[in-house]
Amino acid sequence: MGEPASQLRESMAAIASEIDTAFDALVPRPGDARDQLYDAMRHALIGGGKRMRPLLVKAAARLFHVSEDAALRVGCAIECIHVYSLVHDDLPCMDDDDVRHGKPTVHKAWDEATAVLCGDALHALAFEILSDPATHPDPFVRIELSHELARASGPAGMAGGQMMDLVGEGESFDLPTITRLQQLKTGALIAFCVEAGAILGRLPPEGRAPLRAYARDVGLAFQIADDLLDVEGDAETMGKAARKDEVAGKATFLTLMGIERARAQAHLLVEQAIAHLHGFGAEADLLRAIARYVIERDR
Ligand code: IPE
Ligand code: IPE
Ligand code: MG
Ligand code: MG
Ligand code: MG
Repeated sequence: MGEPASQLRESMAAIASEIDTAFDALVPRPGDARDQLYDAMRHALIGGGKRMRPLLVKAAARLFHVSEDAALRVGCAIECIHVYSLVHDDLPCMDDDDVRHGKPTVHKAWDEATAVLCGDALHALAFEILSDPATHPDPFVRIELSHELARASGPAGMAGGQMMDLVGEGESFDLPTITRLQQLKTGALIAFCVEAGAILGRLPPEGRAPLRAYARDVGLAFQIADDLLDVEGDAETMGKAARKDEVAGKATFLTLMGIERARAQAHLLVEQAIAHLHGFGAEADLLRAIARYVIERDR
């Protein structure tokens, strides 16, 4: 049956408030000449997005009876990377967006230099959180988390995917290339979230195949949904501009397949993702509900 939609809504509201409270404590304003940087970080981090990535960490960690506190700290780390990627993604030299999470983007609220530094600082903060003994007492767990997040964020992950996204403007990439672009740009960080649950739960890598397959399919479906929302979504509901990808000439699944085939593909990916969890019981219902939400969302 899976987790009903109302329970997912409750889980999303709970993680959103936990993440906001955690960031409020993690990024206190110092009251000196760095205040502008901290204000920008707090602007980007607090009262933000859907917190899908921290929720995925929590849902995966739940399979292995990991402490909620450890999962939340890892959720904060991944959210730092995600938010930094958005602050830089919105810069004039990238997607040039003025609104994010229903608020002015960091370079609009302050300036480009502040937005660059805000991203730099959030990037570093992610690894400060992961390497802190408060996240996990075992240094081997902390180093594995740090290593995996570094890989997922760097040239073989998000940053590499963002490069492909920019190079692809005006190009007609083929399906394998677009799939790779999306896997790096969006999929790698989503895969990290699920992997982190397994790392915290000390599940050996050879036992992680079904979770990795789930994450791969959810990551692709997530980006297809983002691209569909760019065409069909409401800017006010999403808290960001719509109908930008076509103007920018972005290479997405939609440019290749058209809307209806892309939507069908996203549905197929979600069914596949859920099928990969067949070996788990009710403890995986939150993961199943997240997979469904990824394509049903309106923001
Ligand atoms: C938007 O991600 C950028 C992509 C990687 C597609 P989200 O849709 O998760 O952004 P927020 O954090 O909820 O706003
Ligand atoms: C952004 O993808 C992905 C990353 C920031 C890594 P998009 O450019 O499609 O995200 P939105 O639509 O601006 O949220
Ligand atoms: Mg972009
Ligand atoms: Mg963008
Ligand atoms: Mg988009």
